[in-house]
Amino acid sequence: MKLIDGKFIANQVKGEIKKEVVQLLDTGHRAPHLAAILVGSDPASQTYVASKEKSCHEVGFISSLYKYPETISEQELLSVIDFLNADTEIDGFIIQLPLPKHINTDHILLRMDPNKDVDGFHPINVGRMATGMEAFLPATPAGIMELLKRYEIETIGKNCVVLGRSNIVGTPMSILMSRKGYPGDATVTLCHSKTTHLKEICLQADILIAAIGKPHFVTEDMVKEGAVVIDVGIHRVPSNESKTGYKLIGDVDFDNVSKKCSYITPVPGGVGVMTIVSLLQNTLKAYKNNTPCDCIEDDHCDDESCDCGCHHHE
Ligand code: GUN
Repeated sequence: MKLIDGKFIANQVKGEIKKEVVQLLDTGHRAPHLAAILVGSDPASQTYVASKEKSCHEVGFISSLYKYPETISEQELLSVIDFLNADTEIDGFIIQLPLPKHINTDHILLRMDPNKDVDGFHPINVGRMATGMEAFLPATPAGIMELLKRYEIETIGKNCVVLGRSNIVGTPMSILMSRKGYPGDATVTLCHSKTTHLKEICLQADILIAAIGKPHFVTEDMVKEGAVVIDVGIHRVPSNESKTGYKLIGDVDFDNVSKKCSYITPVPGGVGVMTIVSLLQNTLKAYKNNTPCDCIEDDHCDDESCDCGCHHHE
């Protein structure tokens, strides 16, 4: 069994991004800028947003946080989005979910400029992803694709079973794995709470992606010998093994399942750390789309021999 070391890959990708930022600054450009909107005081959301800010600073990005109380109205939040959409110095922004119940999340996501939607949650980006067009991919599935690629895990023609159909992970993951190209070209089964014969389906999986949100849901009797297991779950459970009094576990019973796998992601240090890295990659992409190359004049480049590759030539 080989461990898929998300932490190692995350640091590798962050190093690559940082190098690009240094180059941008050295050539007189500004740094990429990611903004986050946080509503209310949910501790998990606060932690996620704080780590996103920390990671931005690690790679040299500018980050800003727009914090609002639980009581903000939908109208007020829509105005914040209009403001961020219009600010040319902000390349991308995210709205930390979940939002309070009195706010319609669909209305909020639809108001975002899809070109700044670095979470890839706007239906335009979801549609672009599903049809194989250039798009911002949602961060967790994009992080998993990066891990599969960097570990050169075979996906073409393989049976891939995805557990969970959320808009954030399961559904986009199933689309990406079934799309043409590598990583992808897999035969995908998407399982959910109404799936029958779940165990039998899981046993067919060459690649099993667990995003079901239940601690230790995947047990060794559900996993084929030699399978690749990707664990998206993250649950805080009481533990007297650690000083903090708790530990983090995934959707997969790691100790027992890992004995049967060819590859497996640990929790923590697997998928979770890659999620933020994907957000950074998307922000850099938004920045490049937002910042014309030095060759651009009046919104286009006249030099036929120019091979800068920026999207203004497409
Ligand atoms: N809440 C849980 N996961 C995510 C995520 O990836 N992005 C945002 N914006 N909110 C989340």
